[in-house]
Amino acid sequence: MIRHFTLDGKKIPFREGQTIMEAAQDAGIYIPHLCYNPEFVPHGSCRVCTVKANGRIVASCTTPATEEMQVENETEELQGNRRELLQMLFVEGNHVCPGCEKSGACQLQAVAYYTGMLAPEFTYFYPMRTVDSSHPDVAIDYNRCILCELCVRASRDEDGKNIFSIDGRGINTHLTVNSASGKLGDTDFDVHDKAAQVCPVGAILPKHEGYNIPIGQRLYDRKPISVVGDVADHQEE
Ligand code: SF4
Ligand code: FES
Repeated sequence: MIRHFTLDGKKIPFREGQTIMEAAQDAGIYIPHLCYNPEFVPHGSCRVCTVKANGRIVASCTTPATEEMQVENETEELQGNRRELLQMLFVEGNHVCPGCEKSGACQLQAVAYYTGMLAPEFTYFYPMRTVDSSHPDVAIDYNRCILCELCVRASRDEDGKNIFSIDGRGINTHLTVNSASGKLGDTDFDVHDKAAQVCPVGAILPKHEGYNIPIGQRLYDRKPISVVGDVADHQEE
């Protein structure tokens, strides 16, 4: 028996066990997200995918769909909450969008455009963060990391290497590399690892190439993220 719930007034079919996010994606409906990637167990940490289900605020990537559930996604209230969350992500790190190699192909930037976010209204933290260039083929710019844990999950669950962890608490939460030196160059990380492909922002970047596609002609320069989806699905473009 096909079950249904309602998303912004539209009837959406779902299979038993599917989350709101999965059923929406199958139906071609975009719910903004950053830490969700269908290839990995949902983590529910960024909260950008928050919707209202039967009046309750929930993360759509971790909440199972149920029969007759009434879900709100694209309301002004929810978009406003998302804009605030996104603003916090921008001020917590050091994001230099105009000069970033990922500009135009960055999910954080694209989701911000989708929600109509303009310049952050919060005070910038300007945290002291480093760049790790120790690996021959891949660089990590910690300034741009949004702690989505996708590289952690990809390295652990798909590459079987467990190269990354998230350490610390609150404002001191940060990504770390699991080597004695803390340097990527002292691990067996490879540019072809899944963990090298999943970063939704410009924090994990391949070396020896850059600006292959000019800014202005990139994935989200051409179409909004609500139409083209996640950057990880377009790695070869
Ligand atoms: Fe997410 Fe990228 Fe940071 Fe890893 S480096 S936690 S994939 S933003
Ligand atoms: Fe659901 Fe991040 S995408 S909490």
